[in-house]
Amino acid sequence: MAKKTVKDLDVKGKRVLVRVDFNVPIKEGVITDDNRIQAALPTINYLTENGAKVILLSHLGKIDHKDPEKCEAGKKKNNMAPVAARLQELVSSKVTFVPVTRGEELEKAVAEMNEGDIVLMQNTRYEKGESKNDPELAAYWAGLGDLFVSDAFGSVHRAHASTVGIATHLPSACGFLVQKELENLGAAIDNPNRPLVAILGGAKVSDKIAVIDNLLNIADKVIIGGGMAYTFFKAKGYNVGTSLLEEDKVEMAKEFMERGKDKLVLPIDTVVANDFSNPTDIKTVDSDKIPDGYMGLDIGEKTVELFAKELQGCKTAVWNGPMGVFEDPRFAKGTEAVCKILSELPDAMTVIGGGDSASAAKKLGYKDKFTHISTGGGASLEYMEGKELPGIAIIEEK
Ligand code: 3PG
Repeated sequence: MAKKTVKDLDVKGKRVLVRVDFNVPIKEGVITDDNRIQAALPTINYLTENGAKVILLSHLGKIDHKDPEKCEAGKKKNNMAPVAARLQELVSSKVTFVPVTRGEELEKAVAEMNEGDIVLMQNTRYEKGESKNDPELAAYWAGLGDLFVSDAFGSVHRAHASTVGIATHLPSACGFLVQKELENLGAAIDNPNRPLVAILGGAKVSDKIAVIDNLLNIADKVIIGGGMAYTFFKAKGYNVGTSLLEEDKVEMAKEFMERGKDKLVLPIDTVVANDFSNPTDIKTVDSDKIPDGYMGLDIGEKTVELFAKELQGCKTAVWNGPMGVFEDPRFAKGTEAVCKILSELPDAMTVIGGGDSASAAKKLGYKDKFTHISTGGGASLEYMEGKELPGIAIIEEK
């Protein structure tokens, strides 16, 4: 059954609490990437244009509440004020920033709102109870509004007070960003046009166990690259030199290979270097010939050709995790080649999970070349794992 969306709610004159994901990178008070703010605008603008009073809640960074000093430093670092300033530049409605998460100042700001106004509350993680889904906190926040809209796709895998708790008290719906994410991820994972090919990369097998497990069940091919490939090489009995290796996951890699058989595709050559930060010798070798003292840092050209062949003819491709250390141009060729191959696939739906692969696609100039780039790192990964996302599960059905 489909979830309600903002269009199913009568929002005129209502105080609408909207959980957005404004967890943007900020360096010295300056937002270095405002994509997540931009991504929330369709919902925010729809609500203000339809006469809602829009109260925005988001977390920003992480705050350690166990240690008082760290907590203060975290609050200072993760103040939402620069986000409010950026939001005001992007919307025509008046944005009022409330630098606290509860109390008179917040309640007064909400009481004084007119239709079409926006209030952005301080970082939800200023509250210790946020990450614990504290019932008192959720009830307090819910008391500030009449309706709840979930538009923080990046946070729907978290069962927190602002993502799940509030929704237990109020009529709820998904915003347009969450709707778009669910439609695209749903089409790729739950109901794919076949063949479905998954490309998985990133540093560690341990981060991707559940996703490999699920995709081996549902995909027609599962291609493995990135740092985690070396644990698979080790499982095949290859020498991996000084490459990233998770010894305790070698058995797991063996099991995946036995289960996946031809479905699981591994790199056949590897770009290796004698040092990570200051390499003086970089070369490409066959995957079973990584010399002692060398570490694998990218996939090689023969592998790119192999992956391209495996992807030809697919109707759906999902990608999560870079193929190498793409932050360093010397080891970005494999990731860039995968971006290019995916972007040129004829008639295929191409979906990229958030996090590193989304950053890589953007950094390498492929931002607009895919059907969908998810805004959620952990959230899109958990979707690909087949897990229920608590921030979605709690939203009312149509
Ligand atoms: C993200 O950046 O992936 C989301 O904003 C979630 O952040 P979190 O991992 O700190 O909950």
